[in-house]
Amino acid sequence: MACNHRPPCLLAFFFFAAIASAQLSSTFYSTSCPLAIQTIRQAVRAAVAKEARMGASLLRLHFHDCFVNGCDGSVLLDDTPSFTGEKTAVPNNNSLRGFDVIDNIKSQVEAVCKQVVSCADILAVAARESVAALGGPPWTVQLGRRDATTASLDAANTEIPSPKSDLDDLISAYSKKGLSTTDMVALSGAHTIGQARCISFRDRIYNETSIDSSLATSRQSNCPSSGGGDDNLSPLDAQLFGGGSTDSLVTTYSTNTARFFSDFAAAMVKMGNISPLTGTDGEVRLNCRKTN
Ligand code: HEM
Repeated sequence: MACNHRPPCLLAFFFFAAIASAQLSSTFYSTSCPLAIQTIRQAVRAAVAKEARMGASLLRLHFHDCFVNGCDGSVLLDDTPSFTGEKTAVPNNNSLRGFDVIDNIKSQVEAVCKQVVSCADILAVAARESVAALGGPPWTVQLGRRDATTASLDAANTEIPSPKSDLDDLISAYSKKGLSTTDMVALSGAHTIGQARCISFRDRIYNETSIDSSLATSRQSNCPSSGGGDDNLSPLDAQLFGGGSTDSLVTTYSTNTARFFSDFAAAMVKMGNISPLTGTDGEVRLNCRKTN
């Protein structure tokens, strides 16, 4: 298309350039670091072969990153004198795992390309590779996120949905991030590969009326109502509350794996797109635990 009017055309150019810089792309590292993806894939496979649960833990790290001021690697930052990081927030403390595995992946990626691949992108790829290693669906991971130079304990405490939330609270927490109720139900299917501590679901198995009673009884055997056992682990493979508008979708997913896989994969791409830092915003950290 010809461009005869210089100022408006220049404006249009800058406008599209701004939009383009805010977009992620699946080929972001094709030239700058062609070995990035396979390096991450091999490291994730090794970690999951050593301990299958690590796949679940890495997937959850990406979620807890994205829900707190976007997918910007902030969850990985240690505390500094100028800010308290997100690791000690209620949903994360004594619960998030996999920081050492991410450190190991980062040092392997740094060895093939120095300061090119962000920690936020490593989390996104590690989540995808973890799901693949555990037999879940594939998706095309979008790349080009940059790393935050700060973290927010407060946002981690308020933005990550609580296990005590009711269905309406959960739907609204997802909607605030641009995710639908279908995305929420599909993403919650992630829990079928992980474990939870007794302290996270004790209230539900002793006080919740909508929970399946045989599930409650079986979980109570390893999660006493009082007197300790807070850290006892149980699989998260069952629905811990029901009786709401999402029940029929949960039933669909439990009987139609293809539908669950396709909705889950689509929702993971959407979650990975939450407010990334792109262009010249943020930085590419050398060490995922600290800003440069
Ligand atoms: C719907 C809102 C969500 C709530 C309320 C929630 C809550 C929880 C809780 C309480 C735990 C157990 C933590 C512990 O006991 O230490 C957990 C574990 C887990 N969550 Fe979620 N979660 C939500 C959404 C998600 C999403 C969107 C994903 C990923 C796409 C996810 C992935 C996981 C995984 C994989 C685990 C197990 C981690 C492991 O075994 O290390 N969760 N979640």
